[in-house]
Amino acid sequence: MNVYMDLDEGLFSCTTHLPHSTMKFPVSELHSVKIPPQRTTGTKRIVMLASTPVLLAVIPLYLFVTSPRLNVLSSRELDISTSVSKGIERVDERCDVFRGKWVRSPNAAYYTNVTCPLIVDQHNCLKLGRPDAEFLKWRWKPDECDLPRFDGGRFLEVARGRSLAFVGDSVGRNQMQSLLCLLANVEFPEEISYKHSLDTTNFKWWYFSDHKFTLAAFWAPFLVKSRDADPNGRSFNSIMSLYLDEPEPSWASEIANFDFVIISAGQWFFRPLMFHEKGEVVGCCSCELNNITDLTRFYGYRMAFRTAFRELLSQKAYKGMTFLRTFSPAHFENGTWNTGGSCARMRPFASGEAKLEGDDLEFYLTQVEEFRAAQREGIKRGLTFRLLDTTEAMIQRPDGHPDRFGRLSLRNTTMADCVHWCVPGPIDLWNEFLFHVMRPESRESLQGQTWKSGR
Ligand SMILES: *[C@@H]1O[C@H](CO)[C@@H](O)[C@H](O)[C@H]1NC(C)=O
Ligand SMILES: *[C@@H]1O[C@H](CO)[C@@H](O)[C@H](O)[C@H]1NC(C)=O
Ligand SMILES: *[C@@H]1O[C@H](CO)[C@@H](O)[C@H](O)[C@H]1NC(C)=O
Ligand SMILES: *[C@@H]1O[C@H](CO)[C@@H](O)[C@H](O)[C@H]1NC(C)=O
Repeated sequence: MNVYMDLDEGLFSCTTHLPHSTMKFPVSELHSVKIPPQRTTGTKRIVMLASTPVLLAVIPLYLFVTSPRLNVLSSRELDISTSVSKGIERVDERCDVFRGKWVRSPNAAYYTNVTCPLIVDQHNCLKLGRPDAEFLKWRWKPDECDLPRFDGGRFLEVARGRSLAFVGDSVGRNQMQSLLCLLANVEFPEEISYKHSLDTTNFKWWYFSDHKFTLAAFWAPFLVKSRDADPNGRSFNSIMSLYLDEPEPSWASEIANFDFVIISAGQWFFRPLMFHEKGEVVGCCSCELNNITDLTRFYGYRMAFRTAFRELLSQKAYKGMTFLRTFSPAHFENGTWNTGGSCARMRPFASGEAKLEGDDLEFYLTQVEEFRAAQREGIKRGLTFRLLDTTEAMIQRPDGHPDRFGRLSLRNTTMADCVHWCVPGPIDLWNEFLFHVMRPESRESLQGQTWKSGR
């Protein structure tokens, strides 16, 4: 049996990638895109465009024009995006906080393994012997403004009487761990997982009674319903069946009670996958079965997000604000997860050194396309969809993973964890983004969205 299997629910898995399909937006296509000068923010702009159907077609491209650092653009596109963002510079609130760089900042960390007693060993790099603290000394600096520091008191005021759910895999739960620590020095939460689930490892519930704030993590690594397809059970390369048109019931049945929902999915889609739709097998990825159509993992990824977003859009009782936390890159070097790969770097990549490419890029583009489509539907339904566009920042942080200093190090293995993130660590940024985007005074919330009051 594989060590990693009981370690983290099989998150490290099949790394035999199919040759990935053609990019949706070849760089050359962007050359012909005409960008109107002096635009306001992405979000605002999308709302404005939404009333103009002809212009809707440019929205997916907008993503690229605002993503110069993702290195998917040629220098020519960089010029375009620079001129586009000039209008943004003047108004701080309108700045795109997701584009920027890491700058050294010795006091960047909000908490330590001592001040926050809620860190699980899997993420507790300091406790588990990571010798350097350099990875804690960097702060994200958006190109056009400063990102406000996380303020737990203000966060809990915004969150008062409300509830927030993470739907995804253990990397989603990793963000919840960070959020717990960021809030715990304002109010220490009570774990109430046992009241809600028998599986208290994968389903986590916390309650901040002074603020009547509920935090939950729903285990749904594929977002849609999944089962082991292999009668022999799960092994590192066993096939999993995904029911692409059925949301995982455990989250779908409860999600209408939540005011904020953070959706994410990632590395699990590297496994061999059997895809089902309408009760039938429609294809398989990395299965090596001759009688089944080959489909890419990106097909499955796309349909999983589509189904998850559709579920949220179709539940009448759901009035929450939905976030897509974008693809979180792994940083194995000198090998893959199971061939001795590791992530021993101690500093962020320098600007331009990191590249979002290959499968990671394809996953990212795929999910953002589905997100944009859902966002447009959401506008019609009065539902707000927001991006937590963490990919660009995290691709630059090969130093932020547990490597040998996570729970893995307690086991008899030399396997490194370059998928999850140390807590504290650069993952705290995800919650800085969250705080920034969900504040009531944030521009994103001022669009006629009616928040559910209380539970
Ligand atoms: C915190 O980390 C330090 C090493 O940085 C370690 O010596 C200490 O035992 C840890 N404490 C806790 C409570 O995890
Ligand atoms: C494909 O072939 C395998 C092995 O011969 C068989 O067990 C399976 O049922 C077949 N699947 C389909 C969808 O025909
Ligand atoms: C990869 O291997 C090279 C050569 O042995 C070494 O210098 C480097 O530090 C390794 N990189 C990582 C991330 O471990
Ligand atoms: C770890 O693995 C080594 C080599 O396989 C073995 O000799 C040793 O007894 C193991 N240690 C533990 C604590 O299981």
